[in-house]
Amino acid sequence: MSRTVYVNGDYLPEEEAKVSVFDRGFLMADGVYEVTSVLDGKLIDFDGHLKRLARSLNELEMKNPLSDDEWLTIHRELVTRNDLVDGMIYLQVTRGAADRDFLFPVDAEPTVVLFTQSKPGLAQNPAAKTGIKVISIPDIRWGRRDIKTVQLLYPSMGKMMAKKAGADDAWLVEDGKVTEGTSNNAYIVKGGKIITRHLGNEILHGITRAAVLRFAREAQMEVEERAFTVEEAKEADEAFITSASAFVMPVVGIDGVALGDGTPGPVATRLRELYLDEMRKAAI
Ligand code: PDD
Repeated sequence: MSRTVYVNGDYLPEEEAKVSVFDRGFLMADGVYEVTSVLDGKLIDFDGHLKRLARSLNELEMKNPLSDDEWLTIHRELVTRNDLVDGMIYLQVTRGAADRDFLFPVDAEPTVVLFTQSKPGLAQNPAAKTGIKVISIPDIRWGRRDIKTVQLLYPSMGKMMAKKAGADDAWLVEDGKVTEGTSNNAYIVKGGKIITRHLGNEILHGITRAAVLRFAREAQMEVEERAFTVEEAKEADEAFITSASAFVMPVVGIDGVALGDGTPGPVATRLRELYLDEMRKAAI
């Protein structure tokens, strides 16, 4: 059965969903995106994703083409039309189609595309029980990683490097410090303290990160927002990543070095439970 996809105001079978070859998203990666998880047919932390979308668009001098209510209606309509129980909704806004030029076109209409990805049992991902292994690679992305643009070539290459090295993902390193994962935020735990890079232009301001740090602080866990090195990570008691699709995922190895006893640590395990419980309750 074919999916129903949203394109510029229409709900279409995926085979009929098309955008222009002149779209600046296609030609120049001139677009932004969001990924919102769906659990039991409900949207997880939808508000956070809408706020970041508005910020990304604003940073690139693009108008937000829809109101918050309109965005919500489309998300819900796609869940219904695709019978989505567990999975993700991908949303992309590009500057639109215009004759190829480096300058931003003045009158292009933004292109809006949304589609669903079904992931049955998303919250029961078996990897959460075993943990994942990461390698470290240089962070050679551009300097505005706080904007969630569709320039995902290097993150893709990073995941391929990890796969070739027999690992699951890569952590990116700049000036000797870990910035984040290819598609997630990175954390270590030492002596019970959760350490994750401070916000700035160097990392994406993860929506999951914000929620997890809030729950951690509410549960009286100590949080330190600062950069850390790969060496420090290798000596940590445990590590984990967060993202809208992975939630909280334990990391059990870095560059071939096992962390702790090589199994998911108690802090990551507890934060995953806390996050999923709380976010399911608040889902809309
Ligand atoms: N990635 N850092 C990067 C570089 C990311 O691409 C993502 C999300 C995150 C985590 O942000 P959030 O918690 O808001 O999902 C951090 C999404 C899931 C993706 O590209 O599929």
